[in-house]
Amino acid sequence: MSQRQLSSKHVLGIKYLNEADLNLIFDTALEFKEVINRPIKKVPSLRDITVANLFFENSTRTRISFELAEKRLSADVVNFSASSSSVKKGETLLDTVNNILSMKVDMVVMRHPAPGAPQYLSKRISANIINAGDGTHEHPTQALLDAFSMKLALNDELRGKNIAIFGDILHSRVAMSNIFCLKKLGANVRLCGPPTLIPKHIHKLGVEVSYDVRKTLEWCDVANVLRIQLERQDIKYFPSLREYHQSFGISKNLLDSLDKEIVVMHPGPINRGVEITSDAADSSQSIILQQVENGVAIRMAVLYLLSARRS
Ligand code: CP
Repeated sequence: MSQRQLSSKHVLGIKYLNEADLNLIFDTALEFKEVINRPIKKVPSLRDITVANLFFENSTRTRISFELAEKRLSADVVNFSASSSSVKKGETLLDTVNNILSMKVDMVVMRHPAPGAPQYLSKRISANIINAGDGTHEHPTQALLDAFSMKLALNDELRGKNIAIFGDILHSRVAMSNIFCLKKLGANVRLCGPPTLIPKHIHKLGVEVSYDVRKTLEWCDVANVLRIQLERQDIKYFPSLREYHQSFGISKNLLDSLDKEIVVMHPGPINRGVEITSDAADSSQSIILQQVENGVAIRMAVLYLLSARRS
């Protein structure tokens, strides 16, 4: 029997969702994908709900995608950016959020540099919380939109499919959420990057590890290429960006040398010429902009489903 409600009142991470939750989100997103392709892209589902987007860290895609999703569901929306707020005067996270909630806000979307910040809040406030990325921990809606995009590209089935994640796994919340999501959906997951950027005990999550880009490309149906996160790297993990690119960069030449056509993805922002070349990122195999488009439908689905779980 299909589940019609999420099992949790928050979306803090993929590790807290079950397979039925994931499928419910994908089914709902498919309906919203149809809505946002209509001439009138709006439905009244969240008409009486106010959502606060709290961004304590920079964002382009996630922030705009959530705001569009909220507006297309007819929610009232307030945007908060830490850099121009009283956080700069020393106000705590909890005081900041409680002050915003006292203005009758129902749901909180939060990006924060500290891993676990959304879990911390979820024990202290009653509003629904959606994690929009917490440090190196999780980025659940990115993994949902990635898996949704993979399903659309691979005849709706990820079970038994080979998905490779390339690059800076060590610092990537996208990698962590993708691993949890893809394993729950029955996909085979292989990580590929320099040994210094792959966590030592990651195989305990049921993934394979390879340091060979060509062999991994030959194995996979989908290559999800991650950004080198220089801003989170406090030491040198490889000699130079040029040498990283030579050993681990994905190029159109490399893709063309395979005996099959794989799907190429990247969550953005892209370091063009580092983890991926422009001709690969902009090729017909790339679904990078479809990922961004699907992100709005996925976030509409998450907001809509959580609104039914308001306490
Ligand atoms: N993919 C992603 O999270 O991008 P932003 O940092 O621009 O939101």
